[in-house]
Amino acid sequence: MASSKSSFLTFNHLTIYLILLLLSQSPQIHSTCRNFCNNIPINYPFSIDDGCGAPQYRHMLNCSATDLFFLTPSGNYKVQSIDYEKQTMTIFDPSMSTCSILQPHHDFKMSEIQSAIIPPTPDTVFVLVNCSIDSPVLNHYKSLCFNFSGHSCDELYGSCTSFKLFHLLSNSTPACCFTSYETVKYMSMDILDCTHYTSVYNTDRLEGVGPLDWLYGMKLSFSVPDTGCGRCAKSGGTCGFDVETEMAQCICSITSNSTRDCAGGREISFADSYRASSFPPLQFLYILALVAISYIILLRR
Ligand SMILES: *[C@@H]1O[C@H](CO)[C@@H](O)[C@H](O)[C@H]1NC(C)=O
Ligand SMILES: *[C@@H]1O[C@H](CO)[C@@H](O)[C@H](O)[C@H]1NC(C)=O
Ligand SMILES: *[C@@H]1O[C@H](CO)[C@@H](O)[C@H](O)[C@H]1NC(C)=O
Ligand SMILES: *[C@@H]1O[C@H](CO)[C@@H](O)[C@H](O)[C@H]1NC(C)=O
Repeated sequence: MASSKSSFLTFNHLTIYLILLLLSQSPQIHSTCRNFCNNIPINYPFSIDDGCGAPQYRHMLNCSATDLFFLTPSGNYKVQSIDYEKQTMTIFDPSMSTCSILQPHHDFKMSEIQSAIIPPTPDTVFVLVNCSIDSPVLNHYKSLCFNFSGHSCDELYGSCTSFKLFHLLSNSTPACCFTSYETVKYMSMDILDCTHYTSVYNTDRLEGVGPLDWLYGMKLSFSVPDTGCGRCAKSGGTCGFDVETEMAQCICSITSNSTRDCAGGREISFADSYRASSFPPLQFLYILALVAISYIILLRR
């Protein structure tokens, strides 16, 4: 009786071991953080999964089946590319006017934190088109308008199929203005009193290039928060944060996170401690389990 009970306990114990081992050795989804959205690499400080990347960039990107979007208070903008070396991201607003399409304006608005950590680059120029004669940029704030690389905004009325319309309709050339992000940051399109806008990036490389061949969209310049991510990445971890406290953490595996890196200071979780210990190979355990089962069956007869 006593021996039967103890072997039954051993059997239970073994089953638990087996289950734990299977759990800890099941194909490891290395981390909870996807590092691609379609063909665009997603690295620190960005993320498309909550708890990954830097908390400052939380909820800024959304990955759909076909596109990556940059989310702002004024809408979702298609991300065209991210350059991690130059720390820039280029985005495109599908509902913005360009040289070929005229679309009703809507404001470009970033959240306060976005304006601070991922603002448009100085070589991203906003083009205010069809401005009324009462527009502040033609009067009190005239100094906010400039020409770039030898281009004046009047060129757009002559070269672009979209903006030619204003010229045709009014039989004169309405005012326009090349300006920087700061202007549209502080003044809405209604205040600016211009009916349309577009934006162009890499403006310092557009000398002698006509508006048809300009790059329409925006280039944003992002800063990478210094939260010791290098150390985490070097140890094989993925930088992330606690979704409740937003404290930085290093995601080492699906079952373990640590505060700094994956080599030291690791919080040993239950399944991890089993994996870490030198445990007999799986096949051996199966045999052992079989022997135990046979043993119990034999004892019960
Ligand atoms: C580790 O962090 C990630 C991201 O915050 C979270 O999804 C996961 O549940 C955490 N895992 C553990 C074991 O705490
Ligand atoms: C992100 O996209 C998914 C569909 O791809 C959508 O269901 C979800 O609402 C979007 N989230 C935001 C914040 O726009
Ligand atoms: C251009 O602006 C004027 C007001 O300044 C407006 O009446 C007109 O409809 C605008 N043109 C187009 C094509 O939107
Ligand atoms: C921009 O260029 C146009 C045409 O060359 C000129 O009339 C205008 O005064 C210039 N504007 C500024 C702000 O320099």
